[in-house]
Amino acid sequence: MKTALITGASRGLGLALARDLAAQGWALILDARGGETLDTVQKELGTVSKVVSIVGDVAQAEHRQKLAQAAAELGGLDAVINNASILGPSPQPNLLDYPLDVLENVYKTNVVAPLGVIQSVKNHLKPNARILNISSDAGVEPYAGWGGYGSSKAALEHLSAILAAENPQFKVYWVDPGDMRTEMHQAAFPGEDISDRPLPEVSVPGLIELLNGDLPGGRYRARTVLEPKPETPSVHWLNLVLQVDDFQAAADFFGKHLGLPIQKEWHDSGHGVLFSAGRATIEIADATQIAEVDRVEVGHAVNDAVRLALGVRDVEQASADVQAGGAKALHTVVDTDWGHHNQRLTMPDGLPIKALTLFQEKDNPS
Ligand SMILES: NC(=O)c1ccc[n+]([C@@H]2O[C@H](COP(=O)([O-])OP(=O)(O)OC[C@H]3O[C@@H](n4cnc5c(N)ncnc54)[C@H](OP(=O)(O)O)[C@@H]3O)[C@@H](O)[C@H]2O)c1
Repeated sequence: MKTALITGASRGLGLALARDLAAQGWALILDARGGETLDTVQKELGTVSKVVSIVGDVAQAEHRQKLAQAAAELGGLDAVINNASILGPSPQPNLLDYPLDVLENVYKTNVVAPLGVIQSVKNHLKPNARILNISSDAGVEPYAGWGGYGSSKAALEHLSAILAAENPQFKVYWVDPGDMRTEMHQAAFPGEDISDRPLPEVSVPGLIELLNGDLPGGRYRARTVLEPKPETPSVHWLNLVLQVDDFQAAADFFGKHLGLPIQKEWHDSGHGVLFSAGRATIEIADATQIAEVDRVEVGHAVNDAVRLALGVRDVEQASADVQAGGAKALHTVVDTDWGHHNQRLTMPDGLPIKALTLFQEKDNPS
């Protein structure tokens, strides 16, 4: 049986998460300041799983000690979820008018208390335990009028990041749950209809993945945790290596005439230059396809097995430049069916690739 401590679990996100974990058989330690609501939750979830509920304020050290005591009695914690948080006054004052004693209270509950909870239970965290600190987009975005709450969440985020760096033995996550239809949200938008905001249950699956899965520590948005990640291809760079007899002539052709910027140079026993050549792709084609491309670009089949095709800003200008460097045009510039303005040329003598295409994408001329 896994065990989690969730602060602020009598309603809202904390309760939604507690319900899900209880259904999965997790033992739970829950708290909230309001005893009556917490009792109702104890009655509901106590029939589903082992639940210890402790009334109290996370900002109080004695209360945090009671949470730690419960953690010890349950044999240690697999997860701590610092969810309890306060908004502060509503409407929220601008920072220049924010009463500092009130700001201190917001910080005590939203920043100092979560660290206090972790410090209190640190000796009862099982290996690979998860620490989830519930943050907010207001901790990242500087919304006017959200200075007290927002800056407390920003502090919680940075605190979490440093905690993660200092404690690689645990997985530390700081998570933005997104807007949720809860008491806190209604308090932030007094008198407004918030029925379009999703219920907190929508943010729970992402939190569950962080608790049960193996994602690296860091900042997450609860509702995107389960979204498939775009595949990153392992190859990210094509470098075409040409062995040339006349190094200087080839260097001049690519550097002076084509105008490619030098990225790196080697002058060891031999000479080498790496030119930046924009974005690289590899195109493979069968003989029929090559013949068709030749027909459009040149007017007849050429059938070169290797051809350098360079996307340029201005085909006419680039063509004039490379012809000045020894390239020979096979044909005038043509417009292809595939949206290119292009010209086929042969490279200057001495280069191991004979065929060169200069092309300009017509709908993306720059
Ligand atoms: N709702 C949103 O749109 C939204 C958006 C971004 C981030 N968040 C974050 O998500 C988390 C949950 O928010 P929520 O909307 O579910 O809030 P909520 O509806 O106000 O619920 C907060 C829970 O925490 C308890 N709590 C508050 N202060 C406490 C304290 N000092 N000690 C112990 N328990 C305390 C509350 O019970 P008692 O009042 O009885 O103590 C309640 O159970 C918070 O960290 C919040 O900042 C919410």
